[in-house]
Amino acid sequence: MFRYRKVLGSILAIILAISCVCCGKSNSATSEIEENSDQIVIGFSQPGAESAWRVALTDSVKEVFTEARGYKLIYKDGQSKQDKQIRDIRTFIQQGVDYIIICPIVETGWDTVLSEAKQAGIPVIICDRNVVVSNESLYTAFVGSDFQAEGEKAISYIEDKYYLEEEGTYKDLNIVHIQGTLDSSAQLGRTEALEKAVEEHDNWNIIVQECGDFTKAKAREIMKKTLEEVDPKTIDVIYCENDEEAMGAIAALNEIGIHYGDGNQITVVSFDATNSALEMCLNGQISCIVECNPLQGPYLLNIVEMLNAGKMVPKITYIEENCYTKDNLSEDFIKSRKY
Ligand code: AHR
Repeated sequence: MFRYRKVLGSILAIILAISCVCCGKSNSATSEIEENSDQIVIGFSQPGAESAWRVALTDSVKEVFTEARGYKLIYKDGQSKQDKQIRDIRTFIQQGVDYIIICPIVETGWDTVLSEAKQAGIPVIICDRNVVVSNESLYTAFVGSDFQAEGEKAISYIEDKYYLEEEGTYKDLNIVHIQGTLDSSAQLGRTEALEKAVEEHDNWNIIVQECGDFTKAKAREIMKKTLEEVDPKTIDVIYCENDEEAMGAIAALNEIGIHYGDGNQITVVSFDATNSALEMCLNGQISCIVECNPLQGPYLLNIVEMLNAGKMVPKITYIEENCYTKDNLSEDFIKSRKY
């Protein structure tokens, strides 16, 4: 199958090269693949580099698909735009890569390009966030996180923390909710868990809900504006959908000297568990971090190697993830981690 696609890729490359010579342009789309090479070529489409987490995921994928193992990895950064990711995937198809790995920025809008990959006979592995498509056969496997389960872990923490034993009920809560990139699985799952909890607890209110796009800068802006409009004394929980956002919200609190974390009214909850955020958890600034594990490279390698060997692969593989508070963290543990 690889041979056939490589021959097809070479023919396409020659046609493209001739047309490029004629129009005086260089042929960068195909020049990334060495002709007549036995390497297995993987096209890897990331939505961007919005967070330290995503950089760790990119590194994890680069670490496993090495030349020493017989792979050539072509990495494309979608610059936070679905259009760009779709263009990148079309380039992979044109190049005749052997596999395509996509971390989709949002869940929908992939049917057409995935049909094109399927027609070209290129297996697609969806990674990190999921897609919603008309036909599940448009991709071969999914490897990533269960974001709803992540959200539920954060809610369990909040419920435990705010359960009033004597009254047998939960404390009244005002929650500032800073969301991730809208319509991404990470946002949808984490938001759904919170909204479901708020529906179940009559005395829990989301007083602000805005999109921080998984970035520190946007979250800082949202928190800054919130602190101008809302009395900080009324805020109980800041539910940030990733560590970058938690750091942005904390920066805004610090700027005007609002206390939060250990021994204070405001509790910050976050997702990812990058080392810098875990340090902030250990020192009491962030109360709970639900892990979103970016070390997905080995899982992807396993899927690709099974496919190389002609084996069936699981359609869905969820990555193992933990939940951290000050109680289960230590300096040594944080130092032992990779991201
Ligand atoms: O899809 C996973 C999310 O995307 C991570 O929580 C976030 O940090 C990243 O940018």
